[in-house]
Amino acid sequence: MNKLRMGIIGVGGIAQTRHIPAFQQLSDEVELIAVQDVNKERAQQVAENFHIPYVLDEYASLFPLVDAVTICTPNKFHAEITIAALNAGVHVLCEKPMAITTEQCEAMIQAAEENDRLLAIAYHYRYMQEAQIAKKAIQHHAIGDPLVARVQAMRRRKVPGWGVFTNKALQGGGSLIDFGCHLLDLSLWLMDDPKPVEVNAKTYNRLSKQPGQVNDWGTFDHETFEVDDHVTSYVTFENDLTMQFECSWAANIKEDHTTLSISGADGGLNVFPLELYQSDYGVVWNSQPVLKEDAPSEGYAQARNFVQSCLGNEELVVKPEQALKVTKLIEAIYASSGAGTSIKFT
Ligand SMILES: NC(=O)c1ccc[n+]([C@@H]2O[C@H](COP(=O)([O-])OP(=O)(O)OC[C@H]3O[C@@H](n4cnc5c(N)ncnc54)[C@H](O)[C@@H]3O)[C@@H](O)[C@H]2O)c1
Repeated sequence: MNKLRMGIIGVGGIAQTRHIPAFQQLSDEVELIAVQDVNKERAQQVAENFHIPYVLDEYASLFPLVDAVTICTPNKFHAEITIAALNAGVHVLCEKPMAITTEQCEAMIQAAEENDRLLAIAYHYRYMQEAQIAKKAIQHHAIGDPLVARVQAMRRRKVPGWGVFTNKALQGGGSLIDFGCHLLDLSLWLMDDPKPVEVNAKTYNRLSKQPGQVNDWGTFDHETFEVDDHVTSYVTFENDLTMQFECSWAANIKEDHTTLSISGADGGLNVFPLELYQSDYGVVWNSQPVLKEDAPSEGYAQARNFVQSCLGNEELVVKPEQALKVTKLIEAIYASSGAGTSIKFT
């Protein structure tokens, strides 16, 4: 069997810590051929550290060498580079968020369709063991129809102080588009893509605009801080489903926590930690699974699904049409806060 030839564009934090090690674990199926980064020194260093043969100056020169690329640049460049890769006949695994705007996401999907290439988005929370089991439980009607989702992606004093995470033009936003997006994607996937009806939201950045903040993840300039560090939202969906959503990089709370719990008509569940809530035989039941200690990491499972899909052996777990819906919701949340009113989906 021929190996899938893979390139990486943008070789910063996430490329080095998640994608490159995961593809190297899949060395029977994938060969890492080339890297490209606007920071040429970093590209050279990464190629040396991970024994990757080619370093290219321009992303377009990488495409003829590979069958697939993973795109790990700041969000602003996701659409442009993805479309160029697809048009060059190359499959794409693009980091999350899919892109900054709905329009960009739609153009990416169109390019994938026109060129008959795969486009996957790195919403890796779906590959967590808890998420995979929760999905199966919901598919097997363990909770009945979902009614209410409570979603929180909360960090205490952890504004990313590296890269360009606080730059609105390059990232499109802050805590919501960077961190909250994972929990939005996971919630929509678990609830089988409910159709949003209305969003009411508020974004904040008052805390990070004050000088001298305590921050556990490096330093940032409060004067140029221009994105959200905290977001709250209430979303209604068709079929009487509602979601209470909150995310933050820098909340004044006791500790970081990630919560996704869903109450359904026949039962409920919590994803982190995974628990099922049911009522039978005249009493309520709480069940906890014994999780497998040797479950593959989500980074490895994500890479494997992408590679196997490119080789024609599996279906993508994260489809671009689903990632587009996350971006639509993010856009609506920002629009609602900007307008100071709720936004209705048409
Ligand atoms: N899935 C996750 O949990 C997760 C976690 C972190 C980051 N990310 C995503 O990954 C992407 C990168 O984040 P990161 O933490 O690795 O950032 P980073 O700043 O560490 O790395 C980004 C790299 O892209 C390079 N770059 C910038 N513009 C480029 C361009 N036009 N062409 C080629 N290279 C370019 C930079 O020089 C840098 O090396 C972002 O979209 C981010 O949202 C996802």
